[in-house]
Amino acid sequence: MEKIYREKPGEASLNAVKRARMQADAEDRPVRILFVCLGNICRSPAAEGIMRHITEELPPSRRPELDSAGFYGGHAGDLPDRRMRHAAFARGLRLEHHSRVIRPSDFDYFDLILGMDDQNIDNLHEAAPTLDAEKKIARMSDFAIHYPEADSVPDPYWEGAAGFEIVLNLLEDACDELKKYI
Ligand code: 4NP
Repeated sequence: MEKIYREKPGEASLNAVKRARMQADAEDRPVRILFVCLGNICRSPAAEGIMRHITEELPPSRRPELDSAGFYGGHAGDLPDRRMRHAAFARGLRLEHHSRVIRPSDFDYFDLILGMDDQNIDNLHEAAPTLDAEKKIARMSDFAIHYPEADSVPDPYWEGAAGFEIVLNLLEDACDELKKYI
């Protein structure tokens, strides 16, 4: 069966980024972005690290405030998974985030909240305390414009080394695109 590719970034995700930008502009501060996955030891800390790296050269007033979190607390306090740290290091990235569980206050503080897969997105919508908070939620893979077939950033935890490279390829692409809007 022929696969139907979605247009990327897609209107809903673009609107979420534009709203985030407007909120930050209204308060005269950099935009605040939270990356979210399940364990906060593979995908979301990698997304945070990539985004931090590619926005380093921006003036402080434009440099986004970044963080990441997960829904599962079993790795709380831990550095990212060793396999992800090694794969990222090979691309010149040092991942130093310590895993934490997402908090209700995150929905208030952050302007844009990016989930990695269907489960993350569903959990974010369930956890969002208000309709305004729900409007901050977007799908990271929507920004991976060079991977039109990707509708998630897949969980690499139970996969081999190739899974981590796929995740990093998707995240690098998505972060490059996201940067254009923030
Ligand atoms: P992440 O990957 O959501 O990308 O951090 C996972 C890490 C740990 C587990 C699952 C996914 N776990 O079940 O422990």
